[in-house]
Amino acid sequence: MKLEVNSTQEMQHLGAVIAQTAQAHDLLLLNGDLGAGKTTLTQGIGRALGIKRPVKSPTFTIVREYPEAKLPLFHMDFYRLENDDLSSIDLSAYMAEPGLVVIEWPEIVQEQLPEQFLQLTIKRVDDSWNSTKRIVEFAPKGSRNKQWAENIIEKIS
Ligand SMILES: Nc1ncnc2c1ncn2[C@@H]1O[C@H](COP(=O)(O)OP(=O)(O)O)[C@@H](O)[C@H]1O
Ligand SMILES: [Mg+2]
Repeated sequence: MKLEVNSTQEMQHLGAVIAQTAQAHDLLLLNGDLGAGKTTLTQGIGRALGIKRPVKSPTFTIVREYPEAKLPLFHMDFYRLENDDLSSIDLSAYMAEPGLVVIEWPEIVQEQLPEQFLQLTIKRVDDSWNSTKRIVEFAPKGSRNKQWAENIIEKIS
């Protein structure tokens, strides 16, 4: 399943649709190079969940928590995280919370992940540095996440 996203605004709209269709204990993994749009997508999620403060990249804090959201949001970014630092994050404790967990750069926590999640890969498809075109690939694991992906794509198109 693939979606073409042509601007920052469209990416935030995709985030809003993800927020509208998310349920407690959902896990969203975001793959893609630096500048692909992972944080931009998460900002769209945050806004649609009613978060008023800015949703910032948690690169240096690893986790940002937004308990005030309609569905509590836990935004994680494991970019450049060393294996040694991982012990400080109890992913299963976050998954036990009735909220939505969004993870940028999930590779390093792969072994700690539950079996079911929705993984999105955001790719730049044009060579020019300032192109705003992105392809978002959906890779859902498990029946809930397949349904979730279908709901998102249906609402977008
Ligand atoms: N279609 C698009 N989707 C998302 N971001 C886009 C798009 N087109 C341009 N951009 C810009 O690219 C940048 C993406 O940055 P960011 O979301 O922080 O990426 P990442 O978290 O993947 O490193 C932002 O400045 C955003 O405005
Ligand atoms: Mg980011």
